[in-house]
Amino acid sequence: MADNHVSDESVQHSDENSVEDIKRRRFITGITAGFGAVGGAMAVTPFVMSMSPSERAKNAGAPVQYDYSKIQEGQMVKVEWRGKPVVLLKRTPEMMQGLKEIEGSLADVMSDQSIQPEYAKNEDRSDPAKPELLVMEGVCTHLGCSPVEKLAIGPDPQMGDDSQGGFFCPCHGSKFDLAGRVYKNVPATTNMPVPPFKFEGNVIVIGDDVGRA
Ligand code: FES
Repeated sequence: MADNHVSDESVQHSDENSVEDIKRRRFITGITAGFGAVGGAMAVTPFVMSMSPSERAKNAGAPVQYDYSKIQEGQMVKVEWRGKPVVLLKRTPEMMQGLKEIEGSLADVMSDQSIQPEYAKNEDRSDPAKPELLVMEGVCTHLGCSPVEKLAIGPDPQMGDDSQGGFFCPCHGSKFDLAGRVYKNVPATTNMPVPPFKFEGNVIVIGDDVGRA
């Protein structure tokens, strides 16, 4: 049920596109939503759909909550908010270091052209109080596909020989780093959006930052 919801959202972004593009996007989004693990030694990557609000509340865009303390270092989960997959990735020190090493390859390093709350407008694109935790809409800024996570550091057929990990969009080949920042010379031109969020103890609230400390 939830997977279908994500596919529909992806398709909404593509009114102007060909039927072939829509079919392809549905297919790829379905793969991404069902993704269970990443290769090599990386941690399992569960797809966790939103838990607390009712379906009606979700459709109305209500915030969703997730206990992020359950996320292991190097692990990623996805929750659904407003029909979109939201990535929660607890980055390792190596992943954080990798963000610095590829800045010359990125199109919008400081996210000047991209969408995020002010508190996430930094190199890590995260709350400075929890810099390792990436909170990001997993939606390609080209035409709305769901990029595939490429969390492993090292050679990757899509990300390149010196990959520091990132996200690859199979629709037209856009690449993003582990902060959702887009590479130069790919179809997408802006970084993947960061939604409003706040922390309440061990819980992250996605879609609401009112009263943020
Ligand atoms: S939708 Fe075209 S590259 Fe992602």
